[in-house]
Amino acid sequence: MIKMVKVSAPGKLMLFGDHAVVHNRPCIVTAVDHRISVSLDKRNDNKIILDAPDMNIKNYKISLDNLGKQPPKKVRFVLTAIKNFFEKYKVESGLDIKTKSEFSSEFGLGSSSAVTVSTLKALSELFGIKINNKELFDLSYKTVLDIQDVGSGFDVAAAIYGGTLYFVTGGKVIEPIYIKELPMVVGYTGIKADTATLVKMVYRKLAEEPEIINKNFDDIARIVDKAKIEIQRNNWKRVGELMNLNQELLRDIDVSSKELERLISAAKNVGAYGAKLSGAGGGDCMIAVADKENYNNVIKAIEKEDGTFIEVKLNAEGVRIE
Ligand code: PMV
Repeated sequence: MIKMVKVSAPGKLMLFGDHAVVHNRPCIVTAVDHRISVSLDKRNDNKIILDAPDMNIKNYKISLDNLGKQPPKKVRFVLTAIKNFFEKYKVESGLDIKTKSEFSSEFGLGSSSAVTVSTLKALSELFGIKINNKELFDLSYKTVLDIQDVGSGFDVAAAIYGGTLYFVTGGKVIEPIYIKELPMVVGYTGIKADTATLVKMVYRKLAEEPEIINKNFDDIARIVDKAKIEIQRNNWKRVGELMNLNQELLRDIDVSSKELERLISAAKNVGAYGAKLSGAGGGDCMIAVADKENYNNVIKAIEKEDGTFIEVKLNAEGVRIE
């Protein structure tokens, strides 16, 4: 008899290549040490019972027969992951599930992808079905697309592989970038970004002005390739400059916001080598590259502009059984 399984996966931060990565270009993503864990146990009946205290969900019940129906927003990643797993591997069981998050889903640090990956990995352990990381990626990515329609899958890759990755759309390339440190400060704007809406807006821009927007994406791709080299050289000054160039191109496709720009300028004004938004834009987080001497000044500058400093360790470990 298999005992309860507990699995955790990290969140993520996009360092370079936001948006362009949705359109067949590369990006660089790092895993952050704020994790989400999922505990699973089989039940003897046909019910799924879910506790997600961080989402204010207690004792949510659904029978296996209803798993195909549209799930409520807060539980849809976990339930869609279960449905996809049962369908793919032709298994089924009632389940007790508990999720626990070390970070707020508000920050845009990848709670949906982390909970999806943790759920699928926990199911594979619980049912004794061996799946490798690429299979886990494909099923997790399908789950995210079933719900969100759009997305590159970079967040799913970070949750599975951890570390810092060079990633191309849909997992065409998933390549670790080996580094010891990433001297970066993360600031939260206080505004929750609507990723799907912004991604769709960029799709519309691309349809309207394919030449201009493709040129923007190609320029971003070149920055990503350069950044990959400079990160491995620990050349943080150059990494910061490349961030500034990436931010200009993101501004050009209208995904920045005045709050993001305030925090970015504040960080650069006190000596950060560079700064940019991280993710879809419109809110969520920005990142700044700063030397140790400047680190605290950058934090203070972000806080002075009403940003929240988020203390995270970057380059964190990927999905693991607890
Ligand atoms: O908003 P986030 O942190 O989920 O990041 C979205 C990043 C995009 O490149 C805009 C979309 C994607 O799936 O790659």
